[in-house]
Amino acid sequence: MKKITIAIDGYSSCGKSTMAKDLAREIGYIYIDTGAMYRAVTLYALRQGYFNSDGTVKTDELEHNMEKIHISFKLVSGIPKTYLNNELVEYDIRTLEVSSHVSPIAAIPFVRKALVAQQQAMGKDKGIVMDGRDIGTTVFPEAELKIFVTAKSSIRAQRRFEELKEKGMPADFDAIKKNVEERDYIDTHREVSPLRKADDAIELDNSMMTISEQKQWLMDKYHNIIKTK
Ligand code: DC
Repeated sequence: MKKITIAIDGYSSCGKSTMAKDLAREIGYIYIDTGAMYRAVTLYALRQGYFNSDGTVKTDELEHNMEKIHISFKLVSGIPKTYLNNELVEYDIRTLEVSSHVSPIAAIPFVRKALVAQQQAMGKDKGIVMDGRDIGTTVFPEAELKIFVTAKSSIRAQRRFEELKEKGMPADFDAIKKNVEERDYIDTHREVSPLRKADDAIELDNSMMTISEQKQWLMDKYHNIIKTK
């Protein structure tokens, strides 16, 4: 069967990754979480002390060391995990500390340029489900199936809160909601590749949907497209 490119964009914590990962597993495609790549660069910058006390980034130092940052994904028991310079960082990149520092990193043009090039290389043979903010607009504007996911910020914060608690990580609902809303603002207002729906993307507001309903919805969209190929 012909392989296609599937781009899933949308706001933070709206369940994109869960949907995208499930679809990829079901149809045998590679899954790439591009948010994890921006988080891994953020973790590296935090560890190296590349943040000023006001939260801005020491861009010269980061730019100088960008080539030392190697991000990869490996399947662990069938689940894709993020590696930074061959260290498993899947847990470390999901902390609130990384979440609160990732937006300024994702707004830096040289960071985006480097990560977009890596993402395009990962998807050059198609057969890929990639989720992020700019996949349908910038990384793969020619993707055959584009989805743009939204949900109310209070619902997204609640989901993130439950996810952290389930993993035994510290979680404060108000702090998470504030972080979700701040990231929405920065993601949609940054100069380079701001978060926006591609003109040809199908919008999904999943505020009132269960995970299995979303999964079915996405599977239907995939089958509709693949029928025409
Ligand atoms: O999806 P996430 O919450 O893990 O993403 C982390 C941050 O990275 C988010 O604030 C926006 C940014 N991001 C981006 O700018 N472009 C992408 N393709 C993916 C994520």
